[in-house]
This record gives sequence, structure tokens and C-alpha cells, in this order.
Amino acid sequence: MSIDVDKITNFCRAHSAVRDIIHEVLLFDQVKSTNKIALEMASDGMPEGLAILAESQTGGKGRLDREWYSPSGKNIYLSFLLRPSLQMRAYPLFSPAAALGLVNGIQAFTGLDVGIKWPNDLMILDKKVGGILLETGSSGGQSTPLVIGMGINVNLDEGDFPKALQDTSTSLKIASGNALDRTGLIMALIQGVTAQIHQLEDDESVAVFDAVREKCMTLGKKVRVSTTRQVFEGRAMSIEDDGALVIRLGDQSERRILIGDITHLRETGKA
Ligand code: BTN
Repeated sequence: MSIDVDKITNFCRAHSAVRDIIHEVLLFDQVKSTNKIALEMASDGMPEGLAILAESQTGGKGRLDREWYSPSGKNIYLSFLLRPSLQMRAYPLFSPAAALGLVNGIQAFTGLDVGIKWPNDLMILDKKVGGILLETGSSGGQSTPLVIGMGINVNLDEGDFPKALQDTSTSLKIASGNALDRTGLIMALIQGVTAQIHQLEDDESVAVFDAVREKCMTLGKKVRVSTTRQVFEGRAMSIEDDGALVIRLGDQSERRILIGDITHLRETGKA
């Protein structure tokens, strides 16, 4: 079944906490990337408060310049165009806030328990079910835009994934055993994410991070960290209030990382 954009629009208008943040919902059949559309609209001077959906993407983008697998009619590709009242240095906080909002939205709609792998991968057990890509761009004469791009694997079966993703990715259908109504799920996700955006805008980022820490399956794990400059191993100890992950190395020293890729490692018995 395709996404019912009128139903989603009516839902947003009917809920004031959502309406404060999302004023308009657009659905495209096929785009290169919903983030790209949002950035183009921002530089054309479009005001904030847009949710852009697509049934498929031909150039879906993931973090660290990766592709995001975006087949038609089964998943959710959703970007918010915002112009936050917060200073630009606070924009990265929208990434954990969105991750938490998506986790809460999925839990409310499906009952599934989704974890967060630092910084913002959505995981069911050890497989990825969704991710978030934040981007900013030119302002179009208004305040600096923030695009929150969210991708969720919803109704894919195992064989629908490309071979290279089959061992590492999953979908909500695989995890729950049922195909899901994407329209209902999108409404739950929009409600979940806008609730967390309100928390940030109300200066409650500490509450957001407390909840993110509870959902973060990276904490306490032995990890391999890959940054643009190096690869090292250690134990993930904490997440600071700016989103940095603190890693304890073998010599007990600690390092903070803000951008990087994490692999959860098997425990071998030694710390
Ligand atoms: C990641 O985990 O690597 C982030 C994936 C983000 C994918 C979404 S799908 C909607 C939006 N448009 C894109 O091109 N990317 C994001």
C-alpha cells in the first residue's frame, strides 16, 4: 500500500505539538534524495516546517558518504526541513534527539524494542534497521536550515536486501513477523521526533541525552573505532552532553570522539 499523505497532513494539523514543528507534508514518488530536495527548497527560501517523504530514492545518502538502499514502496525515507532557533553549534544535538524520537515512535507503533548504536544507527539486536543523516546548507536569505534525514527499513524481506547488506541489516517486518502500515508508522515517527525537538528547543537536552544513554547499546561494549585519521579499540564508557562518545583505551587513558564509525566487538574475557 502506498503512503497516504493526506492522512499524515491531517494528523500533523490535529496535534499542536506536531503542528508547531511540521507545517506541511510533501510526498514524492521518486527523488534522488529527500535530503537533497529539502536542501534545495531551503536555498530557494522555503520557510521551515516541512516533512518531505518519498516512495523511493535513486541516490539515497547515508553517513560517511555511503549509499542508503532505497527501493520503492516498502520503506520510509523522510526529511525534515527546520530552521531551529538554537545556535548552529547545537545543531548536532538534533541527531541523537531524532534517533530517540524514532525509537520511541517505533516502540509506540509496533512494540518492538529498538536500540541506538552510537552515534545514531537504529538497531534490532545486532542488525541495522534505520539511520539518520543531518545536513545543513545555504540559507536562502533566512536562518540556517537544518535537514534531518531519516531512513527506516520497514517491509523488506531478507531476500529484498542486496547481498552485501543481508548480514548486517534488518527490517521491522522481519523483526515483528508482520507487514506494517507505513502511513500509521510515519505518523508515530513524526510524533516521536517532534516531541524530542521540543525538548531541545525547551533547553532540555540533558533529558534527551539521559534517555539516549538508556537506549544506547554501545555503552559498556568493547568497540573498534574508525575515524578519518585512525582505527583503534577500547571500551565505550559514556556519552557526554555534546554527544561525544568516551572510549577507555587499554592503558586506561580516555578519548572523546565526535565523528566516527563504531564496530561492536565480541568479548574475549579480558577487558
Ligand atoms: C545512515 O545511517 O547512514 C544514515 C541514513 C539516512 C538515510 C535517509 S533516507 C531519507 C534521507 N535521504 C537521504 O538521502 N538520506 C536520508
